[in-house]
Amino acid sequence: MAASFAISGSRCASNCLLKQNVIGKCKSAIQCRQFSVSSACQVAGEPDGPRILTQDIPGPKSTALKNDLNNLQNPASVQLFINYGKSQGNYLCDADDNMFLDVYNQISSMPLGYNHPALIEAVRKPENLQAFVNRPALGVLPPNDFVDKLNVSLMSIAPPGLKEIQTMACGSCSNENAFKAVCFWYKNKERGGKPPSEQELRSCMVNEFPGAANLSILSFMGGFHGRTFGALATTHSKPIHKLDVPSFDWPIADFPKYKYPLEEFAKENAAEDAKSLAHVEDLIDRYKKKRPVAGLIVEPIQAEGGDNHASDNYFRKLRKLCLDKGVAFICDEVQTGGGPTGKFWAHEYWGLEVPPDVVTFSKKMLTGGYFYRDEFRPNEGYRVFNTWLGDPSKMVLLQEVIRVVKEQNLLKNMEVTGVNLLNGLKDLQKKHSGKLFNVRGRGTFAAMDFSSSEARDKAVKCLHKRGIHCGGSGTKTLRVRTALIFETKHANIFLDRLNQVLQEDF
Ligand SMILES: Cc1ncc(COP(=O)(O)O)c(C=O)c1O
Repeated sequence: MAASFAISGSRCASNCLLKQNVIGKCKSAIQCRQFSVSSACQVAGEPDGPRILTQDIPGPKSTALKNDLNNLQNPASVQLFINYGKSQGNYLCDADDNMFLDVYNQISSMPLGYNHPALIEAVRKPENLQAFVNRPALGVLPPNDFVDKLNVSLMSIAPPGLKEIQTMACGSCSNENAFKAVCFWYKNKERGGKPPSEQELRSCMVNEFPGAANLSILSFMGGFHGRTFGALATTHSKPIHKLDVPSFDWPIADFPKYKYPLEEFAKENAAEDAKSLAHVEDLIDRYKKKRPVAGLIVEPIQAEGGDNHASDNYFRKLRKLCLDKGVAFICDEVQTGGGPTGKFWAHEYWGLEVPPDVVTFSKKMLTGGYFYRDEFRPNEGYRVFNTWLGDPSKMVLLQEVIRVVKEQNLLKNMEVTGVNLLNGLKDLQKKHSGKLFNVRGRGTFAAMDFSSSEARDKAVKCLHKRGIHCGGSGTKTLRVRTALIFETKHANIFLDRLNQVLQEDF
């Protein structure tokens, strides 16, 4: 990987000697325990390793702030209060001055870590000021550089074959509006391009058929697509997300459930693929009469649901099935997109002959939205619309992110670091058999299972205490979600602390 950045510090926490202090040109080969790789130093001023100062995590200041917040809202989900000014690169500094190596990364949403100089520079540039000060209603009064900004940011990394884009504010509303676009497409086909009837226009106003179309979106058990009403109807990861919310009668298919290591269970896993595909086909056929399936939504890796993987071959067959059945294929890359798997879009690994119809994104892309094939463009304005439709200031930042990713070859960094991370995790799995299971991943988008929810939660807590900020997914999974500047030297620190936890805390 091409490396050329400033570092400070001399010794990483897992005791590897860094060659250091060359501003502008640093290439350091680090030797760290059994994992060794050459390392590029990306971020000026990053600490050498985690630093935990308080006995408990959260420490007293975070706890007091949480109590204050409790006067205003339910703070149950708040883990720590953060000093973003002191956080740097891959390191997150909390209100108590604890410095964590961050492998959770704001729920996978910081592409370049904290306070990246390129982003700070972009905010400081006078020509970018307007984008931050005046937030426009993009659907009606976009700024005069909007097309240019779209081209140099989002369109420069558009998934192969997708030429159109719709920006949105968040992941949920990206999926929500993708569903609408798919329903418009489906009904437009059905009407043969003719305008809607008077009856359709009247009945839609009172949520009745035929204007309120009797269509469905097929989703998968274990999937997560957001928390707004439509998106939530396709989310099936945890009951707490869905409880008490009215939902749709939409079909839900089983996702393949793989056994690990993959090499040992190739036959069983292929059978899982076949079973899931048969289920999808059966559901599409069964819903044809009562609520036709207009679209199917799937994550390349079911992230919130516990990092559930399926093979590239499975996804190729799923895509083909959708084409055969006239069902739109929506690929939700909200969590997998933006580079952590080693490609900008995880579905690029599948080698599809026909691209997905819609690819939704948010998180590392800083703005929400979706790319789509041109037949999914609505015929009229205001059909996919809201006040902001995203935020041009995010495109200013994204433009810089993409420049840095390309210049520093950070996708390659994710690939290389990912291999080292996975090898290290597999070694730990061997060393601590019975405690760690099912190591899996693509790039640094990695995960491992524990024996139970309790064991996983304990591991997360113990890692926090040892200076690693991490989080879970699914019922017993610990997931790794790094920034794109996460290198092997960072992976080594994580592996080292995980090893300590498994050895001393379990
Ligand atoms: C795959 C996927 N889709 C959609 C969403 C929803 O995104 P947001 O939280 O921005 O609404 C998430 C959030 O975690 C996600 O992981």
